[in-house]
Amino acid sequence: MRYSCLAPGKRLRPVLCLAASVAVGGQIEDALDAGCAIEMVHCFSLIHDDLPALDDDDLRRGLPTCHVKYGEAIAILAGDALFSLAFHTMTGLTSPPERVVKAIRSLTRATGSDGLVAGEAMDLLSEGKPVELETLIAIHRMKTGALISASCEIGAILGGGSASQIEALREYGEQIGLAFQIADDLLNETSTPEQLGKAAGSDRERQKMTYPALYGLEGSRNAALRAAERGIECLQSVQDTGGILEALARFSVERLN
Ligand code: IPE
Ligand code: IPE
Ligand code: MG
Ligand code: MG
Repeated sequence: MRYSCLAPGKRLRPVLCLAASVAVGGQIEDALDAGCAIEMVHCFSLIHDDLPALDDDDLRRGLPTCHVKYGEAIAILAGDALFSLAFHTMTGLTSPPERVVKAIRSLTRATGSDGLVAGEAMDLLSEGKPVELETLIAIHRMKTGALISASCEIGAILGGGSASQIEALREYGEQIGLAFQIADDLLNETSTPEQLGKAAGSDRERQKMTYPALYGLEGSRNAALRAAERGIECLQSVQDTGGILEALARFSVERLN
């Protein structure tokens, strides 16, 4: 659990959670433990995504994947335990109880059979098959967008945002989540394992349905930029102090790993 979760990832989701809290007038401290819980869920998804039964990858965050290091059984269990620890952590939040319940509800919805797990299932079932754009967008929204969007929503809930601010930040997260996954598809096609700290060229090998496969490199980049812009447009009702949420939207597309 420590090996995978404390490995050098970007921590985008926790940072979004903290920034969303601040953007609605909350404190960083209001969202800190929730940010950690979200990173645990994310790491559970990475450990399981890399397993031989799923993407069968050997490299993650510049290190051997959890199952390569500790064996498949322990990797499955480490993922399970991170998922459990995430919700244990959420129940210990010291925010007002109604905010905590809302935040837990958001995280459960994003991770389960309407979100991350469904997206992973659809991603796998679509390998080697021609897929329509609508299906591809649905996969991206669920496997990646749902947790990114929930990170923003949870930060806004815990920071004490109004219903419309929470909704605006949820929508911002959904758009940049889509941008982020399109950029991920592009990097898989154009970058190297040294740069990414994970496999490159593997989507093509596994015949994954991706944006570059459907639209080419330039079309995909434009789609990612448009999604990031749509995300930035959602920020009108919140205080994006220092422009951090806007910068994170652009980072989702321009990042190099
Ligand atoms: C990787 O996410 C998995 C996807 C959803 C594309 P990140 O690119 O945020 O991975 P880390 O946390 O930085 O390792
Ligand atoms: C990203 O899956 C989403 C999750 C891990 C849930 P991918 O398979 O597209 O991402 P990478 O390339 O392994 O990080
Ligand atoms: Mg995958
Ligand atoms: Mg993968």
